[in-house]
Amino acid sequence: MRNFTWKIPTEVVFGRDTERQAGTLVRKYGGSRVLVVYGGGSAVRSGLLDRICASLADAGLYCRTFGGVQPNPRLDKAREGVKLAIGEGIDFLLAVGGGSVIDTAKAIAHGTANPETDIWDFWQRKAPLERSLPVGAVLTIPAAGSEMSDSAVLTDEATARKWGLSTELNRPAFAILNPALTATLPKYQVACGTADILMHTLDRYFNPCADNELTDAIAEALLRTVIANGPAAVDDPGNYHAMSELMWAGSLSHNGLTGLGGQKDFAVHQLGHELSARYDVAHGASLTAVWRAWASYVCGSNPARFARFARNVWGMEGGKEEALAAAGISAMVDFFRDLGLPTTIGALDIILTDGDLDRLADGCSRGRSRSIGSLRVLDWDDMRAIYEAAR
Ligand code: NZQ
Ligand code: ZN
Repeated sequence: MRNFTWKIPTEVVFGRDTERQAGTLVRKYGGSRVLVVYGGGSAVRSGLLDRICASLADAGLYCRTFGGVQPNPRLDKAREGVKLAIGEGIDFLLAVGGGSVIDTAKAIAHGTANPETDIWDFWQRKAPLERSLPVGAVLTIPAAGSEMSDSAVLTDEATARKWGLSTELNRPAFAILNPALTATLPKYQVACGTADILMHTLDRYFNPCADNELTDAIAEALLRTVIANGPAAVDDPGNYHAMSELMWAGSLSHNGLTGLGGQKDFAVHQLGHELSARYDVAHGASLTAVWRAWASYVCGSNPARFARFARNVWGMEGGKEEALAAAGISAMVDFFRDLGLPTTIGALDIILTDGDLDRLADGCSRGRSRSIGSLRVLDWDDMRAIYEAAR
């Protein structure tokens, strides 16, 4: 097991009607002037936003709302939020939504606490981030795991860059997880969320460290649970039991737990971010569109790992290691397809020319300045080959 440190400061409040505690929780974590960040309107239509504002008012807190955050959230929208928050003297950010809303709230928190710095400088590592404001999350979609993660992802439309920022300052103070809030989700979003939850653990599980028994067993249990419950949640987003399993798995899958002591790979996320940045693809779909090509490309570097996946996640037995490894990959790809998700880039109705493949590899390698992955380290040529195989 490799060395690690792990500190999760996020208070998790799980279950029905828990959003009613929003005001009390904001107060507990020091907020008095709250900016409530939300998305394109689902939280307004369901009445959730009104319930949250009422809870804040009951707790005696000042509340200002800031809506219109889009999926694959934009840098400019976060900048707009920073301006508003500074003007309003905001001291707490409350995100009501999914990863896009939570990440925007995190960005606004960083910008408001550092008014002298443009927030993109933090994402570009041009300025160190040393302080921020507290953020709370009321989760409405099990997917990105931002409600407990140390990460925030923004897209700069001007340069078509979708970049993540990882820092302990990104961990929310609290996360309200009420699975009943997801009943209004479109099926496609639940499918994308299910894939993203799986991928946060797959991107940790497929790594070169073999002697990490407990972490691997936790990862496998999480994968089996999501595989068992994802289809039922897609079929009926009002299925409270299935959504409970999914929501809790989503938070655990990206708070670090399923990779502790290992060496994160995350190549699939990096390949997918580039697709979303250029073609505005839903995050979960951007991952399943390249996973098959990635897995087939790297499998030969560590067939034992893929064979273990087939045995412990899919319950497969016997056969030669290579055959088992291939069967595990096929089972995962079939699962994504059965959820209605793309397993190639073409299935997203994106037609890539050879020049597009070059540009995707350029972006993903940040102008050939970095490699990605740990199970197998991938350079520009590898990235291009994977995009081509996914085409
Ligand atoms: O905007 P509204 O109207 O709310 O609609 C949203 C949006 O269209 C809808 N939705 C959410 N909850 C709903 C609902 N519709 C009806 N009923 C509800 N209860 O779902 C759509 C997608 O929302 P979004 O927030 O984009 O989804 P998700 O949670 O999948 O977040 C994706 C973003 O998070 C980033 C992704 O890259 C992407 O930008 N990620 C963030 C991570 C992190 N911070 O740790 C890690 C992830 O790997 C990921 O990169
Ligand atoms: Zn993800």
